[in-house]
Amino acid sequence: MSFCVAIDGPAAAGKGTISREVARHFGLAHLDTGLLYRAVGARVAEGEAPLDAAKALVADDLARGDLRSAAVAQAASRVAAIPEVRAALVDFQRAFARRAGGAVLDGRDIGTVICPDAEVKLYVTASDEIRAERRLKELQGSGFDTDYATVLADIRSRDARDASRVDAPMVAAADAILLDTSRMTIAEAVARAVAEVGRALRR
Ligand code: C5P
Repeated sequence: MSFCVAIDGPAAAGKGTISREVARHFGLAHLDTGLLYRAVGARVAEGEAPLDAAKALVADDLARGDLRSAAVAQAASRVAAIPEVRAALVDFQRAFARRAGGAVLDGRDIGTVICPDAEVKLYVTASDEIRAERRLKELQGSGFDTDYATVLADIRSRDARDASRVDAPMVAAADAILLDTSRMTIAEAVARAVAEVGRALRR
């Protein structure tokens, strides 16, 4: 069975949790595609050329402990605007999307570019302020020393860059189901996503 669930949306909207839980519920593999760009961004911050870094990416890069930092997130969103970097990462993501047993991929362009024929497409959003509050808790929980204003500014600047780039901008696919999680608990958002995927699986 090849079955692809595409979950896109802006930074810190809850895509990660929803994707992990949907994958676990249905026994699907999960790829957080943001990690690919973060790993490339981290290598570029260390002095490597962006395209070299994208081509040289190995599994160990995705396990680096520093990929969640705001500095790496910014570096990721800068390299993500380079068309050649995106192109170098396409084949791996498409192969993952169509692996036997099915897959959930979350990112910015999964439903539009990587897997436009995905069986389910969700576009997960929430207000800027709520996303910043959630990301702040997450970062502080992982030991990062930061504050609300810094996190909000980071989210807004990344969203603006991600939405305005020429190649694969962040945008909801025309056939995506919109899921605004601003007034939902995580459990409610996950339940809604699981219901949508369950419906598609029964079709
Ligand atoms: O999802 P996450 O916040 O980890 O992504 C980090 C950055 O990677 C995003 O701000 C975006 O620039 C880039 N990205 C992307 N396309 C994806 C996933 C992430 O451009 N599919």
